[in-house]
Formats: sequence, structure tokens, C-alpha cells
Amino acid sequence: MSSQIITITLSPCIDKSTIVERFVPEKKLKCSYPVLEAGGGGINVSRVLKNFKTNSECIYISGGYTGKILDNLVFHEGLNAKTISSEQYTRENFIVFEKHTHLQFRFGMPINKVVEKEWRAVLNQIKKSKKSSFLVLSGSVSENISPVFFKEIELFVKKTNCKFIVDTAGSALKKIITAGAFLIKPNLNEFSGLYGTKTLNYKELVKKAKQMVAKAKVENVLVSIGKDGAILVNKTGGYHLIPPKVKVKSTVGAGDSMVAGIIYNLNKGIEILDAVKLGVAAGSATTANSGMQLCSLTEAKKLLPKVKIKKLL
Ligand SMILES: Nc1ncnc2c1ncn2[C@@H]1O[C@H](COP(=O)(O)OP(=O)(O)OP(=O)(O)O)[C@@H](O)[C@H]1O
Ligand SMILES: [Mg+2]
Repeated sequence: MSSQIITITLSPCIDKSTIVERFVPEKKLKCSYPVLEAGGGGINVSRVLKNFKTNSECIYISGGYTGKILDNLVFHEGLNAKTISSEQYTRENFIVFEKHTHLQFRFGMPINKVVEKEWRAVLNQIKKSKKSSFLVLSGSVSENISPVFFKEIELFVKKTNCKFIVDTAGSALKKIITAGAFLIKPNLNEFSGLYGTKTLNYKELVKKAKQMVAKAKVENVLVSIGKDGAILVNKTGGYHLIPPKVKVKSTVGAGDSMVAGIIYNLNKGIEILDAVKLGVAAGSATTANSGMQLCSLTEAKKLLPKVKIKKLL
């Protein structure tokens, strides 16, 4: 089944969570039965869209026995998955909750490299869809990926007139900015990283985003700033969207929920500022859920009227 919305995850992972009483060096630590979940930006965006009763095609790379586990997890989520097989093992990230301190420790394994055979297979899969309206690239992307991949995506986007939405960081984000996108959604650190700094202040952020939009390659620059919401800059101006205060249980997947909320509304023909408003509500709704539980549409819509918009430009 072809879909209006395509998500791409180039380096997905299995998130393996367990609980220990307390960390003690040199001793064997007794762990609870591990809980396994599929992880990776695009997969999460597809998951939230599914919660919102919206179909998407979820393209991701997987390999080795861990890749088989990932495929199985994605299958049980009921996603419309298109798997690209890799010779590399899908990475496993490890999350340990220490009961004694109530602290969570998150161990992230290195991002998988994407070889030419794999990115070409991803492109072929994308090109099979003639009617896509949204192409979403989300999650970590290996530095080694060829710029040809982004060039090809640029051509596809122009040819099909679909909207390219990107939530990634580092050198991949840099390459995309020069190739062009409808919307980029880095968080504040990721956006600041583009300018070789850790945290830009809001004034600098808006200035840099405005310059980026003026170059006419990126239509909408959306920088998420956790509990402080997000700043959107496009040719109509600059806006600070402020979420309501919520009782935060887990921030895992907040950014992906935000992207899904935006696409859900854009797909209904709603204009960008109101689409981002639902995105902010969706991100905040996810933080009110525990663990990996992502928000429902009802939860996001409940917060929607409480999201405030302040015009900056
Ligand atoms: N503590 C919080 N309280 C309320 N809302 C939050 C909080 N953290 C995140 N959000 C909501 O989620 C959105 C995205 O969050 P954030 O900026 O943390 O994204 P991110 O760093 O990309 O997250 P991810 O870890 O999923 O990649 C925010 O714009 C906001 O709407
Ligand atoms: Mg993020």
C-alpha cells in the first residue's frame, strides 16, 4: 500500500531497558527482565501517526539477528514497514534504571554507517511512491553518507512536489540545509551546533534562523526547546510557541511526537503555524506519559488550546 507520508530511519536501534537495585563496580548486577522496543526517529514518527489513525510508510535499514528482532518489534506495532537489509547489525541501546536513586542511565551505541548499496535501496523504495505528500527524515545519520543521497532526495522532492521534513543533526543537517527542505526541526543544541556553539540565546537563534530562511532553501526553521516550547521562523515572521506546564514523566519521543503532530495537521491542509501548534501540544502530551509511551491524538488535542503563541518578528 503506498502512502501519502513516508518516514525514513537510516540508523534505527533496539532500545533495551532494565532495572538494577544500585550500581556497584566489579560486582555482577542483577537486572530485571529486559524490555525491548523499536527505536529511531522515523519509526517513532510513524508510531505517533498511527496513534493519530494516520497511515505512513516506514522505511528503515536493519541487519543481523538484532535487525530481525527490530523487524519483529516493528511488525507488532502494526506499522506499514519497508525494510532495507544491511550487512551491519542493528545497534542496541541500553537503558538502565537505578532503583536506589531513581535515575535513568542511557547508553547509546555508535550510529551505523550507511553504505551506497543501502542508501540507493532507500532511494529506490522512496521512488516507488509516486503520490507522496510528505517525506520525513528523522533520527541520527552517519557522517559518512554520500552527499549524492541528499542530491537525489532534492530531485525527488522537486519532481513530486512533496514536502521534505527533517529532524536530524550534525553534518547530515548541514548537507540538507544546502540542498533544501520544507521544514527542519533541530532542538536548540542541534541548531546551535550548526554554528559551532552549544546554546544560542533566543535573539541569536532568531537571527540565524531568519538568515537561513532568507537563503530560500529552507522554508520553515523550527527549533524545539524542551519545556520552553519551540521557535518557528519562516517568511511570514518569527513565533515562539509556549506549551502549558505538564507533569513530566518521560521526555523520550517528545521531538518525534512534535514532528508527527505537525504532519498530521499539514496533511489535513492546515497552515504551518497551526500545524506547529499541534506539534508542540503533541510533544508536551508525550512527556506526560511514562517510558516510551507516545501520545494519543486526544491527549494532544487536550493541550492544544493551552499552547500560547508570541510573535517575535
Ligand atoms: N519538559 C517539558 N515540558 C513540556 N513540554 C515539553 C517538555 N519537553 C519537551 N516538551 C515538548 O516537546 C517538544 C519537543 O521537545 P524537545 O525540544 O525536548 O525535542 P528533542 O530534543 O528533539 O526531543 P527527542 O529527545 O525526542 O529528540 C517541545 O517543543 C515541547 O512542546
Ligand atoms: Mg530530537
